[in-house]
Amino acid sequence: MVIKCSMAPKLPISDVLIVRKFERNNSRGFIWLQNVSKQRPIEIGIFIAIFVLFLVVLILVLVLRHPPEGKNLSTARVDSHEQDKIKPLEYDSDITATSEIKNKLRMVTRLEWVAQPPSNITTPLVTPVPYVIIHHTATANCSSIAQCVLHVRLIQTFHIDSKGFFDIGYNFLVGGDGAAYEGRGWTIEGAHSFGYNARSIGIAFIGTFIRIKPPDIQILACKRLIEQGVQLGYIRKDYKLLGARQLAGTESPGAALLEDMKTWNNWAAEP
Ligand SMILES: *[C@@H]1O[C@H](CO)[C@@H](O)[C@H](O)[C@H]1NC(C)=O
Ligand SMILES: *[C@@H]1O[C@H](CO)[C@@H](O)[C@H](O)[C@H]1NC(C)=O
Repeated sequence: MVIKCSMAPKLPISDVLIVRKFERNNSRGFIWLQNVSKQRPIEIGIFIAIFVLFLVVLILVLVLRHPPEGKNLSTARVDSHEQDKIKPLEYDSDITATSEIKNKLRMVTRLEWVAQPPSNITTPLVTPVPYVIIHHTATANCSSIAQCVLHVRLIQTFHIDSKGFFDIGYNFLVGGDGAAYEGRGWTIEGAHSFGYNARSIGIAFIGTFIRIKPPDIQILACKRLIEQGVQLGYIRKDYKLLGARQLAGTESPGAALLEDMKTWNNWAAEP
């Protein structure tokens, strides 16, 4: 019988046979599957369970090998990153070739933290200066070079782009990794303590130290840095050590750090 329908394509006989054969095979396969699933529901269940388990393990392995980036920056996990392995922190080893005095202070130079050049001509500092002024950066803290470098770079960008300074405001910074970071250095006037910039070296502790004081290695780095400044003739031997809040209405360097500073050499209650 011929069905007259405009939608039905006229297939040559051989094609019609292939289609019928396919349908027959297909329905046979389907019936086989139905029978098997009726006869062996447990085996099929186990097979599917193993397959799903395999997929879950595969996904877990992939996720653990590539954790999402940008999270937990302040946790120890970051310490395993390669950047940190380039320069392992060994406080008892020799200092870098750029330092002039062997007092075991690790100095991270501007070149090393990839500083931008100053945006305008900065003013030379008349040394030796009579004051050392301590700040905190009021940011998160850091415990590895990679983390601290990130903070120092962000602070420089903030000081130049948002505050309109010509460079990072501090002469130096110290990190929770126990290293000192070169800001404007010993010979350039900073932008950190209004009225005192031309007569002081400004050192910032990376972190916020209102309730908790910095780790010992960070405090030690600061003390060694000051010592180095005195030995190199950039800081007067009878310098006065001050916290930024003693000179201006600011929280810096944080109550906990200020309290600790009272036990350091040359602490001055009054400017
Ligand atoms: C550079 O500093 C000088 C003097 O402080 C100022 O007059 C000039 O506008 C500054 N230039 C830029 C590009 O900020
Ligand atoms: C950073 O701060 C957290 C809490 O705010 C503290 O637990 C941790 O010890 C600090 N790490 C360093 C290196 O200062």
